[in-house]
Amino acid sequence: MAIAPYQLGFSAAHQEGEFNALPIQGTIPSWLRGSLIRTGPGTLEVGQQSYHHWFDGLAMLRKFSFEDGRVSFANRFLESQAYREAKSKGKISRGEFGTTARHSFLERLTDPLPRLTDNATVNITMQGDRFVSVTESPFPIIFDPQSLNTIDQFHYHDHVPGQITTAHPHFDYRENAVYSYLVNLIPRCSYSIYRMDAHSNERTLIGSIPVKQPAYMHTFSMTEHYIILSEYPLKLNRLSLMLSGKPYIENYQWKSDKQTRFLIISKETGEVVHSAESEPFFSFHHVNAFEQNGEVVVDLIAYSDSAVIQSLYLESLLEHPEQVIAAGELRRYRIPLNEAIAHFEVLTSEPVELPRINYQRCNTRPYQFVYGVGSSRSGNFIDQLVKVDIQNRTTQIWRSPDCYPGEPVFVAAPNTTSEDEGVILSVVLNAQTQNSFLLVLDAQSWNELARVELPYHLPFDFHGQYFDAIVPTERTQLHR
Ligand SMILES: [Fe+2]
Repeated sequence: MAIAPYQLGFSAAHQEGEFNALPIQGTIPSWLRGSLIRTGPGTLEVGQQSYHHWFDGLAMLRKFSFEDGRVSFANRFLESQAYREAKSKGKISRGEFGTTARHSFLERLTDPLPRLTDNATVNITMQGDRFVSVTESPFPIIFDPQSLNTIDQFHYHDHVPGQITTAHPHFDYRENAVYSYLVNLIPRCSYSIYRMDAHSNERTLIGSIPVKQPAYMHTFSMTEHYIILSEYPLKLNRLSLMLSGKPYIENYQWKSDKQTRFLIISKETGEVVHSAESEPFFSFHHVNAFEQNGEVVVDLIAYSDSAVIQSLYLESLLEHPEQVIAAGELRRYRIPLNEAIAHFEVLTSEPVELPRINYQRCNTRPYQFVYGVGSSRSGNFIDQLVKVDIQNRTTQIWRSPDCYPGEPVFVAAPNTTSEDEGVILSVVLNAQTQNSFLLVLDAQSWNELARVELPYHLPFDFHGQYFDAIVPTERTQLHR
């Protein structure tokens, strides 16, 4: 059996902790005053049982706070129902992305329907002025941004139908509103497109788009006038989801004879104003989109099929690192609004995943820079950070021996003129020293500014957001 040097990143966090001033090598810019809050698995085991997929582990929040060049840190498990049940029963209680919960005959008798998980392990956002951790079931979990204590499930004051959602909603800064969607399975399948004002608990259904077999979609794009869904040929068998007892994602089937279909949906009317097809491909993450010269331009990270999902099962990650697909191809799709075919070009030869941009400045607009993680060689998971200049088609790479970086979050410096003036924050696992550190890069020069050392390792996580202030007021600014 091959031993993957990065395997520590899939083992449980040793503790929950709080540290006021962490040791820093280098200098943190004095203008950096705020908090990076992230979520991801804190453990991939419960009692004697193991989750099967990287996306399944019980959520743990991590927070790095910056003030006057100092950095404090805290990490705490998110106490969702899934977490509390797992802790009290000593076993996996709710099915996750790639894991089913096994219930005894008596449990099945008293509680016959499987309950959706609220294990919000994918992303952090704000809903109705509350800080929430989210996943792909529509049950955001509210937490206290100061203490990281779990507060409650977030309750919407509406009846927008749907059982599956995305953990990557979009924020429209012109309208001061969130746009997102739900996949509704009952009684017939549809995509529910909704809008929610920044300080509201109430979603407004903009449109309901009937669909025979919903696609598995992790993200979507937004332009000034449109929502863009990309339906990959990874299609849900609804009957199988209800009756098979298989893990959630295994109820989707890859249909290689089908195309990928882009749906261009009006943000105003909720109607599909155009659709276009391309060769079949799969993607987790859209990067950005904008309207230009009668076309909708969509940048995303593409894979030729859905094998990447299979490759991120723990068995593959820990025992067959050479099989792991850690990053994809940064592509630009052009969708002419008067043609039914979408064409793409590849923007860089470097593999990219967990893409970020200067969101507030660039989302829905033409832009220049994409930041992401990457992979320098097969079998070494995610081992580098990459900055792609998509206008000049150049790249800059950060790499350090035995280091495995996470999602690079861009934070703009105050009063900037350039798109890339700011810093990159990335939580890095150092397999040599067996701990994690927060890497601070100058986003423009790609030089290291600082490493903030943690006393222990953190399991690999997924997404996080930087907040100027962590007091949940109207002035709190989300930089996603
Ligand atoms: Fe994601």
